Amino acid sequence: MGGPHVSPALRAMMDDYVHARVHEPVRFDEKANRWEVLRYADGVRVISDFEVFSNDLSAFIPDHEELRNFSKGNFQAMDEPRHKELRGLVTQGFTPKFVQSLVPRVEQVAAELLDATLERGQERVDMVSELAAPLPVIVIAEVMGLPVADRHLFRKWADALLVDNGVDALFSEEGVAAMAPSIREMNQYLLSHVDSYRRSSKDGLIRDLLDAELNGRKLDDFEILGFLALLLIAGHLTTSTVLTNALLCLDENPGLAKELRADRTLLPPMIEEVMRYRSPLVWINRCALTDVEVGGRRIPKGALVGTSLISTMRDEAEFAQPDVFDIHRKQARHLAFGKGIHFCLGAPLARQEARIALTALFERFEDFRVAEDEELVYHDPNDMNGTKKLPMDLVR
Ligand code: HEM
Repeated sequence: MGGPHVSPALRAMMDDYVHARVHEPVRFDEKANRWEVLRYADGVRVISDFEVFSNDLSAFIPDHEELRNFSKGNFQAMDEPRHKELRGLVTQGFTPKFVQSLVPRVEQVAAELLDATLERGQERVDMVSELAAPLPVIVIAEVMGLPVADRHLFRKWADALLVDNGVDALFSEEGVAAMAPSIREMNQYLLSHVDSYRRSSKDGLIRDLLDAELNGRKLDDFEILGFLALLLIAGHLTTSTVLTNALLCLDENPGLAKELRADRTLLPPMIEEVMRYRSPLVWINRCALTDVEVGGRRIPKGALVGTSLISTMRDEAEFAQPDVFDIHRKQARHLAFGKGIHFCLGAPLARQEARIALTALFERFEDFRVAEDEELVYHDPNDMNGTKKLPMDLVR
């Protein structure tokens, strides 16, 4: 058995939360200028009570032209009624039924990636670059009608926005300046695709957005850009991290792989438990719209409020033995996809991708283990909960 695969920084963070959930479950972090919400019940309230906690964080984000352009259609950062109107334009593209129709193609992509690995005959591979990173990025590119050959760019932009500069980079002048070149490149790229769709008769998501009407008017290019950027960025680094996190959990739990091989219906609950135990996203942020009391503390109007996904999903008041990885949990109401009106649009797709990737691995390899003689390199636990690479030994 390998592991436990936890970075010292994440270990320290989780140890601190065990104490804080009892003594100071809502607290102000001066450095991040943010209120931290650590208990599950409080987190549910903050994430889902959209009348009191806003998704519009623009008050904390320095004004920058490229960000403004990209924000216009980014409905994750909007409140009602605008959020609902814009989200409604793409919900059809992500229903479980539609996602079901993508399954054969996702299976094919996973098979092609792993067959290429097999052909090379290496016994040790980096599972991030072999499977976890390319699978979701190829799928989202195809769903969006963007050239798969450009996928290295999509990955680069997601890294720049989510991990290279830290997730909190968005809240500082220096951080935004560091991200700006990538955002500019992404904006120009996506706008040029919107333009080429406009001048062609090609079908697909971009065409649907060009044809869509909202309150009697068409979307402008920047609104479409924001939509596309959101889908492109939200969907792949997170999904690839769930996949590698699933492999870490398998490695830590001897006997689990055998159980899953014998009964594939256990894969979906296993993936849900991976998301509880190792949620890729670490914080869900909101802005308080009024003075509000949470967990006995008064949070002032206008404050930044972060719900910790690491802490809330290890809350012993909600999950019995929270530090045990247990795929047979009854109450697996994790928050890794959020909750309420902003619940992750891509959840059905991410779940299918994780299930298909694990199935493809089980079908091709008798065993796969995290390499014992290589140090794992982890993301900063405030940015993303996972490893940057995942060296694994494969047994055919
Ligand atoms: C929203 C996580 C995959 C698209 C969210 C939220 C979370 C989340 C926590 C809620 C944000 C909030 O409440 O403010 C994840 C995780 C994923 C994943 C952990 C992988 C396992 C995807 C995929 C897509 C996607 C594959 C698209 C193809 C979105 C969109 C929203 C969203 C568009 C905004 C929804 C709204 O504001 O109404 N995601 N996501 N996500 N996600 Fe995901």
